[in-house]
Amino acid sequence: MHHEPIIQLRNVGKSFAAHRVLKGISLTVSAGEIVTLIGPSGSGKTTALRCMNFLEAYDEGEVLIKGQLLGYSGPGREAKHRDSAALIAEVRRPLAMVFQQFNLWPHMTVLENVCAPLLLGKKLPRDEARKKAAAALAQVGMSDKAESRPARLSGGQQQRVGIARALALGPELMLLDEPTSALDPERVEEVQDVIKTLANGGMTMVMVTHEMSFAASISSRVVFMADGMLVESGAPASLFRQPQTERLKTFLAPWFRRPLQPDDVERLHG
Ligand SMILES: Nc1ncnc2c1ncn2[C@@H]1O[C@H](COP(=O)(O)OP(=O)(O)O)[C@@H](O)[C@H]1O
Ligand SMILES: [Mg+2]
Repeated sequence: MHHEPIIQLRNVGKSFAAHRVLKGISLTVSAGEIVTLIGPSGSGKTTALRCMNFLEAYDEGEVLIKGQLLGYSGPGREAKHRDSAALIAEVRRPLAMVFQQFNLWPHMTVLENVCAPLLLGKKLPRDEARKKAAAALAQVGMSDKAESRPARLSGGQQQRVGIARALALGPELMLLDEPTSALDPERVEEVQDVIKTLANGGMTMVMVTHEMSFAASISSRVVFMADGMLVESGAPASLFRQPQTERLKTFLAPWFRRPLQPDDVERLHG
């Protein structure tokens, strides 16, 4: 296999007015990797994820998807230098995103929700879209709810639909922003199980999470972010057991007042 990265960030920066939220972050993710982003609230994790697929326009550095510059064809990073929506959509085609708040359309059925990006974005014929959507729903165990409205589902079921919607696009890399943080505690596991199954099936992922055991069990690499910077990264076993910076030690302290369970770090990739 080739080792061409799917996504590369080079010194990516982003400001909201005078607030520099991302301060030059660099990250490379290759096929098969599961990279989790951890870090305190407000550190820029969501913004970083959104810059990776240009849902947010970065204003410094470069994001490359399979070697192609995303969002800008030239050196300028001002709004007037942005590529057309069509070109951006083309370059980011290998990516799909799962949102913290699911972002399902309430007036559509589950099946229609999963079909929508296939019809509107990919312009697939209706039959083909429905076939792909049904297959994706089966993969997350939601076939029996295809005709339901999202409001009739539990949060865990809604997020599984959110995952199916991303999966139906046939992505090479999935971006997941705290996929279980909006769920009741008893619904977290069913969604984590779906994500683990995808990871074990070889899906490449960049995931923001606050669930440290989950991060430890699923990640090939964990990246700790604070104050708009990538502070530390490494394999979960070393990052969680031997944090190098005071910032990371402080961040991890509440989670690891109990001893780390062997499962947390050793249960990697089956
Ligand atoms: N659309 C926006 N406009 C202005 N400020 C924003 C916007 N989105 C995020 N921010 C600010 O950027 C910082 C990082 O936010 P975010 O990326 O959501 O962090 P995290 O996901 O790590 O909690 C926060 O201070 C937040 O208030
Ligand atoms: Mg966030």
